Amino acid sequence: MKLTFEEHGTGKPIVLLHAFPLSRKMWQPQIKALITKNCRVILPDLRGFGESHNFSDINSMEDMAKDVAELLEALKIERAIIGGLSMGGYVLFELFKLFPEKFAALILCDTSFAADSDDKRKARFDLIEKIEKSGAQILIEAMLPDLTSNNTKTNNQVLMIELEKSFAEVNAKAAVAALRGMAQRKDNSNVLDSVSLPTILIFGKEDKIINLSVAEKMHQKILNSNLVLIEDAGHYSNLEQPEQFNTALTQFIGTVNS
Ligand code: MLT
Repeated sequence: MKLTFEEHGTGKPIVLLHAFPLSRKMWQPQIKALITKNCRVILPDLRGFGESHNFSDINSMEDMAKDVAELLEALKIERAIIGGLSMGGYVLFELFKLFPEKFAALILCDTSFAADSDDKRKARFDLIEKIEKSGAQILIEAMLPDLTSNNTKTNNQVLMIELEKSFAEVNAKAAVAALRGMAQRKDNSNVLDSVSLPTILIFGKEDKIINLSVAEKMHQKILNSNLVLIEDAGHYSNLEQPEQFNTALTQFIGTVNS
């Protein structure tokens, strides 16, 4: 499926995959920092989100990954540094399984290799019911309170309002399709051992969605990985603390040959 994307700068290709239920716009605070480090930044809207309006009843992480591979093909990019935050990371794992040769390095932010637990899966199906009854607006009360740190809630009203606006704009059917796709994704713990490329794990220290033990496990299992914890950030570490995040990101990118 053809994805809408934006592209900035020239140099090392870097592709960043957004979280649920956001869009490529979530990477806005990283663009300038990356261009300054001579990166060609590619930001797709995953199917159903932002301006990528086509989607199926179930948007599997694998199908989303194939869309990204098609985009790389169309842009004639053989290898890129590829990163993903949360759902973007789930897609990244599928892309890595399908096309490891397309990776120069991995950036795993606030994400997990694990499949949903039974409780998490049940919570997703409850959320699907709510969305089908009341629309995507329900995501604001059902998800947003757990996504950011207390510091962000208290001191960054601008971001909280922007997030509410983004959540309110989500296409309800696309949100349901992605929730189904996340619910059916498989465990990827066996992939961790096979990653020998440079990898950075960036997690908000107060991430309530993905437990920090997941970050530590990935750090243990992935050879050549760095783990950076972002202070005063929750699940949206790149949006909540862009300066800390960009410092970690650009230092890492400086070490990668692509
Ligand atoms: C996300 O931020 O992409 C979602 O919270 C991921 C999830 O629900 O597992």
